[in-house]
Amino acid sequence: MRQALGQAFQQVKPASTGKRRILARAAACGFTLAVAGAMPAIAQSKDGKLKVGLMLPYTGTFAALGNAIENGFRLHLNEQGGKLGGREVELVKVDDESDPAKATDNVNKLIKRDNVDVLIGTVHSGVAMAMAKVAKDSGTVLIVPNAGADAVTGPMCAPNIFRSSFSNWQPGYAMGEVMAKKGHKRVVTITWKYAAGDESVRGFKEAYEKGGGKVIKELSLPFPNVEFQALLTEIAATKPDAVYTFFAGGGAVKFVKDYAAAGLKKSIPLYGAGFLTDGTLEAQGADADGLFTTLHYADSLASARDNAFRLAYAKTFKLQPDVYAVQGYDAAQMLAAGLSAVKGDISKKAEFAAALKVAKIDSPRGTFTLGKNHNPVQDFYLRQVVGKENKVISVASKGLADPGRGCKM
Ligand code: BEZ
Repeated sequence: MRQALGQAFQQVKPASTGKRRILARAAACGFTLAVAGAMPAIAQSKDGKLKVGLMLPYTGTFAALGNAIENGFRLHLNEQGGKLGGREVELVKVDDESDPAKATDNVNKLIKRDNVDVLIGTVHSGVAMAMAKVAKDSGTVLIVPNAGADAVTGPMCAPNIFRSSFSNWQPGYAMGEVMAKKGHKRVVTITWKYAAGDESVRGFKEAYEKGGGKVIKELSLPFPNVEFQALLTEIAATKPDAVYTFFAGGGAVKFVKDYAAAGLKKSIPLYGAGFLTDGTLEAQGADADGLFTTLHYADSLASARDNAFRLAYAKTFKLQPDVYAVQGYDAAQMLAAGLSAVKGDISKKAEFAAALKVAKIDSPRGTFTLGKNHNPVQDFYLRQVVGKENKVISVASKGLADPGRGCKM
């Protein structure tokens, strides 16, 4: 099962195969699906179905993340018999390619051409910010199932925008506290140069320097480049006590392997936001063994709720779930909570938002609520890679809320 997930990073599916698989899966789950750009879109649901626009990456370095989010969303929908809040659901999909330059056009297609009632997306922070702008301007409900862009639940926050995942600040801040407590005094950071990388490092630095450490160098390369060699040479020459990093998906696989191949793993401990080792372990192999990361999910939570989720996910998709699958599942749970309160009438935006503000989401990660800025208030776990699992070591930050800086709602 994990082998299949690892392969997802290497394979670029031909469109026809992908479409066939999508159709087969939709049929298996018993609900309707239209793939934007691939099949004629149904202009407006005349049959009372709720049209949900899934805008996710299905190609590129984050393709596996987009697929896991969709799987998680489908799993909850399937468990509810294909209905949320009493409404049958129709999914309309767009591959956003993690490309911010195409994001506004893509989200406008979903809203104006496909007439979706709700938007679910996406993975990449830059794309999510474009989605949030359109959602805010148009009043369309948006649930972000991954992208941590601080602005989405900060200055861009809005009554109709929610997140089922995290802000980039959160896992970074949790790791800053951990590394300061471990006594590392001088740290180098390395990441992709875009909102998620910058904000993850900023969150890390805030807690780490408060705890007495010093970030001595901040290294970066453009997203989604994976030519790490020159930067690894610079890390070796700088000789920090440790390294903090944000990478995810295919880039995280390559970074962990290159870090080990450069001989750095033995001499300079590598830490990261948990995306470094989530959904990636099969492909990273022994090079990931022993790495410490912080995240709001882990493979060994072993709660009854998580066990049931993991079993159902594995049975349905023949894959092990990861944090992205959980976030997709919880996006569906959040949508269901809001819709139930308005008896499926998504036009009742104020009541929909009021219900989510007080909702307790029964997540596989543990129950969470939303903060005033609509971002999850949740525990962050310190995890260590042991035997191809992200094992929980401790709760690094209990009930950590994003500060929601700049959010006025
Ligand atoms: C982001 O762009 O916000 C992001 C992408 C992958 C994993 C985590 C965050």
